[in-house]
Amino acid sequence: MSGRIMLLFQLCLVFFTALANAAAQEPLVDERPIYSAGDAIPVTCLNRTSDTGEHVTDASGQLQYVPFPVCNETGRPLEIYFGVEKDINCTIDFISDPMFHLLEFYVHNDAPMTCRIPTRPMPDSSLANRVPKEDASVEGQGSLSDEYIPLIIALTGTLQLSHLHVSSHLNMLLHAAPKSVSPGVIDAATAYSISTRPPARIVIGDALPFTFSIRWYSGQQLPSGWSGVGGHIYASTLIYCILSAGAAAAICTVYFRGVELPRRLRNHGKDRMTGGMEGGRLGGYGYTAGTSSYALGTAGGKRD
Ligand SMILES: *[C@@H]1O[C@H](CO)[C@@H](O)[C@H](O)[C@H]1NC(C)=O
Ligand SMILES: *[C@@H]1O[C@H](CO)[C@@H](O)[C@H](O)[C@H]1NC(C)=O
Ligand SMILES: *[C@@H]1O[C@H](CO)[C@@H](O)[C@H](O)[C@H]1NC(C)=O
Repeated sequence: MSGRIMLLFQLCLVFFTALANAAAQEPLVDERPIYSAGDAIPVTCLNRTSDTGEHVTDASGQLQYVPFPVCNETGRPLEIYFGVEKDINCTIDFISDPMFHLLEFYVHNDAPMTCRIPTRPMPDSSLANRVPKEDASVEGQGSLSDEYIPLIIALTGTLQLSHLHVSSHLNMLLHAAPKSVSPGVIDAATAYSISTRPPARIVIGDALPFTFSIRWYSGQQLPSGWSGVGGHIYASTLIYCILSAGAAAAICTVYFRGVELPRRLRNHGKDRMTGGMEGGRLGGYGYTAGTSSYALGTAGGKRD
């Protein structure tokens, strides 16, 4: 008996040791850092030459990414915050001559405004500590790897002879990987101009006020947001319809009882007194009907 208990005890021990080992090994699968809600995410963009719009590569042939222009509101290049949905104003204080020409390339679709964000927090995520010059090759290495998620900013606008119209209100959509798969990791990103907003008119030396409406989605699916051209049928609309129908019915009843019914009763009384009237009216009606059926008959005859 005690031998059996001993065996059972040993089996349990083996089982729980295995379980503990498995639990201890679980976090070792992926030790890379992840974002928590509110973490700042720096946006960097492909450097391009302002004369041709061609991308700039470093000595080792890697694409060179440089920080997004500094926003006047924060004094830092554009940053978005993990899982935080809000409107971010980012005014570029002074559109320099090269930047103006790049904007021309972007809105004229000669070159895309190609930016990117780190998939996971960078080891050195503080932009202040960044040294772009020395880091250029390191910066570029991520362009083909899974360290970065591309963020193409589809900037629209129109070129004019002396100036530029830029649709500077943009929507930015970001997907975080599903929590069950890899929480705190960015999966996809895009941004695009809203063309129905009044565009910003820009000449060299002006400020360019960008507004980014940021929305986050967890998982790969976009929720369906279409409510039709006419908008939703809200419960209030439905109640309004029912109440209007009720009111209309009430008005009709009152009208019929108060006006129409007494009149009909009066007419009925008159008709009974002057008998021939009704017959005359009916006769007129019959004549009209007869004419139209005659016309139809002629048409049919022609067809045959
Ligand atoms: C971008 O490229 C241009 C042209 O090669 C260069 O002059 C400029 O310094 C680069 N920008 C940054 C921020 O490194
Ligand atoms: C940018 O900020 C500076 C100082 O904070 C201010 O003087 C300037 O007017 C601002 N520019 C714009 C376009 O808001
Ligand atoms: C952004 O700027 C617009 C207009 O300049 C202003 O009305 C709005 O309040 C600003 N939003 C934020 C979040 O600062």
